[in-house]
Amino acid sequence: MENLQGKVAVITGGASGIGRAVANRAADEGMRIVVADIEKGPLEQAGRELASTGAEVLGVVTDVSDAGAVRALRDAALDRFGAVHLVHNNAGVGVGGPIWEVSEEDWRWILGVNLWGVVHGIATFVPLLMEQGEGHVVNTASIAGLVSAGFLGPYNATKQAVVAISETLVKDLQAVGAPVGVSVLCPGFVQTRIAESDRNRPGSATEAAADGATEMRAAVQSMVDGGIPPATVADRVLEAVKSDTFYVFTHPELMGEVERRFADIMQGRRPSPTAIA
Ligand SMILES: NC(=O)c1ccc[n+]([C@@H]2O[C@H](COP(=O)([O-])OP(=O)(O)OC[C@H]3O[C@@H](n4cnc5c(N)ncnc54)[C@H](O)[C@@H]3O)[C@@H](O)[C@H]2O)c1
Repeated sequence: MENLQGKVAVITGGASGIGRAVANRAADEGMRIVVADIEKGPLEQAGRELASTGAEVLGVVTDVSDAGAVRALRDAALDRFGAVHLVHNNAGVGVGGPIWEVSEEDWRWILGVNLWGVVHGIATFVPLLMEQGEGHVVNTASIAGLVSAGFLGPYNATKQAVVAISETLVKDLQAVGAPVGVSVLCPGFVQTRIAESDRNRPGSATEAAADGATEMRAAVQSMVDGGIPPATVADRVLEAVKSDTFYVFTHPELMGEVERRFADIMQGRRPSPTAIA
């Protein structure tokens, strides 16, 4: 989609971090913006800030792990703007720890947001984009979608699933000749609130996962602090939408990790240690 002027973007997890930066960039392109997020306060603030720049914006409180909520998001977007052109399935959460210590509640929470959120986004919006004969889907994975860093079991599992789903989606669309583009975003660390993901952990899991997680969270926080600004990622995302680029990488220094992972596979050797975690 080369010309984005007047088109409609739906961005999940759009109240913070990468999603928020993509909403800003999309507004700079003259797009009309639908911001979806589970956090009402930050969502309202994002809406106000975007509107103050002159953008047309709609905020919809949405839990992407709930299929019905994602369908309601689509309906709200259509009611307000009459069409959807860019769908960025971006909401995501992660907490760390040895994989055998991850509670079932945390597995369900992380799979719910990072995996089912993308599944619901595709099932809900892709038929609409196909019907319109125009559109683009961006799925936020991570470099963890291509490299399995330690202590991030459920996160790695969901992000590798998002890469697989995106690769399948682009092939399926191509097979039926649908004029809908797909990108999968695979960043390394970005300066966002991802290390505070547990602010959105469902109530029952909060206490269960509280102890032991503090140290891991501090380690992730310091890597996030050393990351790149979300605006840099947003620039890459908008470029990818306009040029229909599939893999979107933002950290060239990490590509050696990806190469080593595939070399491990090709040579049948034990996974090499990663520099990521
Ligand atoms: N920050 C990084 O280093 C990094 C690196 C690679 C990939 N990512 C991915 O980028 C995406 C965006 O994360 P971020 O880094 O901007 O973090 P962030 O915490 O700043 O933003 C994530 C947003 O998702 C929202 N959210 C959480 N659960 C939700 C739900 N159930 N439904 C709807 N919204 C929900 C949060 O409220 C928040 O606004 C995630 O998918 C994350 O995995 C982040």
